[in-house]
Parts: sequence; structure tokens; C-alpha cells
Amino acid sequence: RLVSYVLGIETSCDDTGIAIVDTTGRVHANVLESQQQFHTRYGGIIPPRAQDLHRARIENAYERCLEQAQLQPEQLEAIAVTTRPGLPLSLIVGLRFARHLARREHKPLLPVHHMEAHALQVRMEQLTEIGYPYLCLLISGGHCQLAVVQGPGRLTLLGETLDDAPGEAFDKIARRLRLYVLPQYRLWNGGRAVEHAAQTARQPAAYEFPLPLSRQRDCNFSFAGIKNNSFRAIRKQELAERTPPDGIISNYDDFCAGLLRAVSRHLMHRTQRALEYCLQQGLFDAAPPTLVISGGVANNDVIFANLAHLAAQYNCRAFRPSKRYCSDNGVMIAWHGIEQLLQNGQYSLRRDIDCIDIAG
Ligand code: KG4
Ligand code: ZN
Repeated sequence: RLVSYVLGIETSCDDTGIAIVDTTGRVHANVLESQQQFHTRYGGIIPPRAQDLHRARIENAYERCLEQAQLQPEQLEAIAVTTRPGLPLSLIVGLRFARHLARREHKPLLPVHHMEAHALQVRMEQLTEIGYPYLCLLISGGHCQLAVVQGPGRLTLLGETLDDAPGEAFDKIARRLRLYVLPQYRLWNGGRAVEHAAQTARQPAAYEFPLPLSRQRDCNFSFAGIKNNSFRAIRKQELAERTPPDGIISNYDDFCAGLLRAVSRHLMHRTQRALEYCLQQGLFDAAPPTLVISGGVANNDVIFANLAHLAAQYNCRAFRPSKRYCSDNGVMIAWHGIEQLLQNGQYSLRRDIDCIDIAG
């Protein structure tokens, strides 16, 4: 029996993602339609508008996906679709489309938890390296979680944010700072713009923020303090410089360096606690100690390098998916579907051959 193909459909937020991945982890098609340019104009996602755009694009994205992969629908093994968490109006578009396809093509439907898909995605590219269990830090625009990952549907949450997510903080602060008035950042998300601006800082230590939850001995996060301190610091600087209402403070890059450092330090502080807990509990006894960082904020090279450095102090390896798979996409949904098939024992996972023995 040849390799099996799974179609993945992602519409949980503002990206329409459809992809086809096979059981060896090869990506045969990856279509991703961003809505960013529509939503940035309004300073945030408007759910009914996001729904309209998903509806208008999903059928065509699916057709292009089959074309890229040069496959017929009957060659698909299953259809995986994000069912939660996300914007209900967006989720329902993907779910309805997946149900319709599954019925029409007589294929099984595999429900996928969006955050789990972020957490498992790294295995698609590093399967021989990354076995269960591992510690995962999920950092995105909607979430911030530390979890022990044991397989699809088998995540144990160690901690999460008490308020904002780190990507959300980057996005809100970048907007307040008005980074979008600079042409190079106009269409970028806040996190990416902050990372880039921080590189040109001349006085990177000019802004300092207190470490959140510094005395709590758990694995939770909080970004509201950093956000409010940022708003206050920006306001103070604007008044001092008499910045016009559509202008930007002169040392915005120094500010971005301070912000990035603050977020990074907080993520490291809490991840350190989780690593110590996992080591204490003997969690890594069965596998090489591994930290996986995933979600849109894992795109950040400074944050990843700092976390990898921290992990190394505990003899722990650090991985993240390739950048194109850190943010929302259909590939991670298809891969989660494949992990479900593998877990159900119908397939054995062999990367070295082109042929999967269905008997396992
Ligand atoms: O995972 P994702 O694509 O969507 C959600 O599920 O939220 O993450 C999007 C988030 C945005 O908030 C964006 O600001 C952040 O990821 N992000 C970054 C970077 N690239 C994207 N944050 C920091 N540094 C980056 N380079
Ligand atoms: Zn996501």
C-alpha cells in the first residue's frame, strides 16, 4: 500500500489554510490565504468580515490544493479540520466545508484542536528526533501555554496566561506605538515589526519593564502589566517629544528592544519552572529532554535563541517548526490528522521508505 494522504483545513481565525500531507510527512500542497490586509485597516479582526472572506475563498483554495498535489479527491485517506478553539464564525466555515467534502467523497472526518496542531507540527519535520513526551511552549496571538505533550489528544497543561497572549501584546503595543506609519511595517504583524525594529536600537537598555509574576512559583503567564507599562511609557515619550497624533516617537526602536527583552525574559522565567518540574517528575526519563516552541511568536529569533539557551542549561534540546509552519496553516492540521491515524494503530511510521505497510 502506498503512502496515505490527508487533507487539512484551517479557518479558526483570519487565515484560510488548506494543505495535503502524506504519512511520511511530505507536504504535497499548501495553500494559505491571509486576510491581514483587510483587517489591519480596522485595527483588528471583524468576525463577520472574516467569515465572508473564508466563504469566498475556501472552495477555490481546495481546488488549487488538489491541483498543486496532482491528486484526485478519492485518493485522500481522510479530511482533518480545526474544530476548536477559534472564532466561531470562522471555524464554522471550515467545518461545514469539511463535512460536505467528507460526505461527498465518503471520507472519514478527523477533528483537530488548533493548539494541539501547533504543538505536534514540529514532529512532521523532525520525526526521528522528537519522540513523546516533550515539553511544549505554545505562544501565539491568542494563547500562551506550557504543556506536556504525549500525543494527539494527550496534552497536560502546566500553565497558561492569566490575561493577554504574547502575540496579542505585541500586536496591541505595535498599534499603539503606530509602527504601521513606517512603510516597511505597514502590512506586518506586530510581533514581526517589533522584532525587526529592535535590531536597529541604539540604546537597547533605555526602556526596562518589571518581570511579571516574579514571585509566583507556578507556570502561569501575564502580559497585561507589560502592555499597560508600555502604553504609559509611550504616552510619556509622546508628551515629551510633542509627537503629532499620527506620528511615532523618535526612539521607537529602543522601545521595541526593551519590550522584546521583557516578553522574552518572562517566557524564559516560566519555561524554566516547567523544565525543572518535568525533570523533577522524571518526565524525560523515557525520551531525550526536549523543549518545543510553537505558534506565531515562535517565529521570533531572539525569543527562540533565548529559550534554546535556557534549555541547554538543563541539557535539554530545543526545537521549533520551520517558520512557514509556526504561524497558522493547513499543513499542521493535516499533520495532526496523520498523527491521529498513526495513534489509532492503522499505520506504521517509516520515513526511510516510500511505502507504508497498513498492517503496521
Ligand atoms: O499562531 P498564529 O499565526 O495565530 C494565532 O493562533 O494566534 O500567531 C499570530 C501571532 C501574532 O500575534 C503575531 O504578532 C505573532 O504571532 N508573531 C510574532 C512574530 N511573527 C508573528 N511575534 C513575535 N515575533 C515574530 N517574528
Ligand atoms: Zn494559531
